[in-house]
Amino acid sequence: MARKKIIAGNWKMNKTPSEAVALANELKALVDTDEVDVVFCVPAIDIIPVVDAVKGTKISVGAENLYFEESGAYTGEISPNMLVDAGVKYVIIGHSERREYFAETDETVNKKILKALEHNITPIICCGESLTQRKQGVYIDWIRMQIKIAFQNVTADQAKTCVIAYEPIWAIGTGETATADQAEEVCLAIRECIKEVYDEATADAIRIQYGGSMNAGNAKELLAKPDIDGGLIGGASLKPDFKDIVFPN
Ligand code: 13P
Repeated sequence: MARKKIIAGNWKMNKTPSEAVALANELKALVDTDEVDVVFCVPAIDIIPVVDAVKGTKISVGAENLYFEESGAYTGEISPNMLVDAGVKYVIIGHSERREYFAETDETVNKKILKALEHNITPIICCGESLTQRKQGVYIDWIRMQIKIAFQNVTADQAKTCVIAYEPIWAIGTGETATADQAEEVCLAIRECIKEVYDEATADAIRIQYGGSMNAGNAKELLAKPDIDGGLIGGASLKPDFKDIVFPN
């Protein structure tokens, strides 16, 4: 089955609202396409102006986080309804930076995924191993555990709509990319894990991205692999080069 590629920028904690609008305006001229799904995942405060900036294009806007409650006394958090009302279609969940600096666990990741799905926001579910785990040879086991907990109580029909991002922590922001073979090995293992948990149709439908120092130079080789359906891009999503990941040549 042909899966449509999905290229998402993760702007992380970069760009003020006015800078975000300027970047969205610059990029939208370059990456407005039907061929692949293009998503700008932006800081919460930038969501409303960026949704406005990309109106009339095929580009979607994503959030970088959400909270798993509907409303109430959760100072500083953002509910799924707030994101939906602002025009958000995707949300990054369980990025390694959130796990490391904000104490997110596999269990909170699972709660956030269920909440996003309940509100028809597509979760981009991050997983990935540390350098130590890779060196010790336990990376596949580790990622299978992350995936199995992330998908608890998610139905097969819901799982088919999800996006998984494999992001080896040692490759994030370091300039060191996983080789295309290393990335494919893990993306295939993730798909096999989904097949075990659900079935072949679900494994065939779910889209799996690679993330970690992906750029204009290495995108083509990574995206050519059969189990890599897109990219989650940090640094290179803040530059016009982003178009060379959307349209690798
Ligand atoms: P870099 O592309 O900057 O390595 O970041 C990857 C990432 O963390 C995307 O979520």
